[in-house]
Amino acid sequence: MTTLDTTEASGMIMNKTAEDAGTLAKAATAARAGHETKIAATNVSVFYGEKQALFDVSIDIPARQVMAFIGPSGCGKSTFLRCINRMNDTIDICSVTGTIEIDGANIYDPKIDPVLLRARVGMVFQKPNPFPKSIYDNIAYGPRIHGVAKNGSAMDQIVETSLSRAGLWNEVKDRLHEPGTGLSGGQQQRLCIARAIAVNPDVILMDEPCSALDPIATAKVEELIDELRAQYTIVIVTHSMQQAARVSQKAAFFHLGKLIEVDETEKMFTNPTDQRTQDYITGRFG
Ligand SMILES: Nc1ncnc2c1ncn2[C@@H]1O[C@H](COP(=O)(O)OP(=O)(O)OP(=O)(O)O)[C@@H](O)[C@H]1O
Ligand SMILES: [Mg+2]
Repeated sequence: MTTLDTTEASGMIMNKTAEDAGTLAKAATAARAGHETKIAATNVSVFYGEKQALFDVSIDIPARQVMAFIGPSGCGKSTFLRCINRMNDTIDICSVTGTIEIDGANIYDPKIDPVLLRARVGMVFQKPNPFPKSIYDNIAYGPRIHGVAKNGSAMDQIVETSLSRAGLWNEVKDRLHEPGTGLSGGQQQRLCIARAIAVNPDVILMDEPCSALDPIATAKVEELIDELRAQYTIVIVTHSMQQAARVSQKAAFFHLGKLIEVDETEKMFTNPTDQRTQDYITGRFG
């Protein structure tokens, strides 16, 4: 397997873009050293029109670990996840207050380009959503629009590396030019993870990435998440307590738009501080 030259790839992203990338990237180098805070949210509130969906959420998310967001349906997990790569910007009636810093830089600063931010903070959705393109082009699309690969063989290398990291290369290497939508659901989800990885992100957000998958495909994606955390900061929304226990080191419990408790996953699942967390993890509501 060939290795993607990530230094070169991130260098090209920086050349192509303004100083916001420089600020983010500089702090990223510092964050790679340990489990220090990667994402710091302070007093984040979200409104859909008049209706408030999140209330003053403040949380530190550590670098290169997996944090699980848990809580009953409608409590605001997806809403908060979407704040972290400014996907809520795409919803007209949605407004966000408060600050979110990644590597110390406020991602809501007007100087930050949301398109560039979303390359650094990738997202994987509940339903696998490959583009209606070939497997190869699903991966090549992002690097192409961000100008990451300087020629065809560099692109081939990015495609191979991304698919290998997502544990999919051996299954698809002989059918790279067939449609991504022709893969099984589990393979499509790993293709979407490979697509997120291809643009060399720091953070990967996953919103119930296994809820449409069977147990075997789920196990593969969970194994993959466990491998990826060596390199990426991962935030996963899940309704499965078992999944949160298997894949995450930290967990955050949301209830009615408020962040109730954040702790080591093991501690939260064995000895939670708040009665509402206790009620949720023991299945009393949700
Ligand atoms: N696009 C939207 N427009 C209006 N209201 C929305 C929108 N998206 C979410 N909401 C509202 O915001 C609140 C939080 O929703 P959100 O989808 O974040 O919850 P969730 O915790 O992800 O739930 P689930 O577990 O069911 O996915 C809910 O009351 C929901 O109705
Ligand atoms: Mg949701």
